[in-house]
Amino acid sequence: MNLLTNKYRYIFVGGKGGVGKTTNSCSLAVQLASRTSSKILLISTDPAHNVSDAFGQQFSSDIQPVNNVPNLFAVEMDPSQKLNNVEKPAEDSKFSAMFEQISSLMKNVSSFPGIDEIMNFMVVMKLAMNDEYETVVFDTAPTGHTMRFLEIPRMAQKLFQTIDGIWAQVQPMMQMMGPMMGVEMGDMDGTFNTVKENLKLCAKVQERFEDPAQTTFVCVCIPEFLSLYETERLVQHLARINIDCNTIIINQVLNVGSKCSCQLCKARSNMQKKYIKQMEELYDDFQLIKMPMLEKEVRGSTDLKGFGDMLINGVKFEK
Ligand SMILES: Nc1ncnc2c1ncn2[C@@H]1O[C@H](COP(=O)(O)OP(=O)(O)OP(=O)(O)O)[C@@H](O)[C@H]1O
Ligand SMILES: [Mg+2]
Ligand SMILES: [Zn+2]
Repeated sequence: MNLLTNKYRYIFVGGKGGVGKTTNSCSLAVQLASRTSSKILLISTDPAHNVSDAFGQQFSSDIQPVNNVPNLFAVEMDPSQKLNNVEKPAEDSKFSAMFEQISSLMKNVSSFPGIDEIMNFMVVMKLAMNDEYETVVFDTAPTGHTMRFLEIPRMAQKLFQTIDGIWAQVQPMMQMMGPMMGVEMGDMDGTFNTVKENLKLCAKVQERFEDPAQTTFVCVCIPEFLSLYETERLVQHLARINIDCNTIIINQVLNVGSKCSCQLCKARSNMQKKYIKQMEELYDDFQLIKMPMLEKEVRGSTDLKGFGDMLINGVKFEK
């Protein structure tokens, strides 16, 4: 399976709400961790974190080792983290205000992310860019949120470039006027160096995300109309923003075969088969992985390990 052999640096796992993103991303992370002597990091970018629920262990915005899974670490990005308590480009409230103003100006002209969203992204990216981790697996929020998340490096570069441009214009004047107005130039230079650093970080993030040797996006779906429709939207969007996608997991596939001949199983199974066939035609150059609908939900590291084994080794489906 190329998700294992390719040694990706970043693997995003995404799709519609409730299809199994968390189950699959956690299972994949457990598999990767069992095959490395290095470290794997699992990051949840979904504000409604469920990585904690999946493992039955409370994670936070600080990186923590996952119990019973050597080499695996997890972190849940904190969406409520405000500009004031994250490492920010502006130590001084005057500059925070300026950042907010510029970002809200940009927000007016497009669907520009808010400054808090950008700063949150920067916090996550600082973790993700840490080369200590062999692979970073992202458990993402449902599609719309994630499409937006992936646009942030580009958007943030625009914001930081604008601020940088403004700074270049006002700096000579501030050098003259600043001391008279009681502004320490040292503080300001520090602030704008941070802007430059953030700009560089975003450019590096974008470069890595757009490199198919380093980053891939795994779409998870279920064999139903709405989910297929959303998968196609996601696949097209990823192509537009240059993010590789070559694997689709079709989750919750009924595998009853001869085990049950009731009307419900027969009807649902036939419906699923119809959609799976459509997918096989539409995505013939993708790796499609079918995962069975299990009798039980998947909870705790033992379940996730078992689910991951099926993900990696494949499952035989009855006709
Ligand atoms: N193949 C499966 N068989 C049985 N149960 C499954 C399967 N896949 C996922 N589940 C269960 O379905 C529920 C939803 O799965 P999961 O949390 O992984 O979805 P999600 O896409 O992350 O949802 P959300 O959009 O809310 O984050 C969980 O209780 C999970 O244990
Ligand atoms: Mg989830
Ligand atoms: Zn049945």
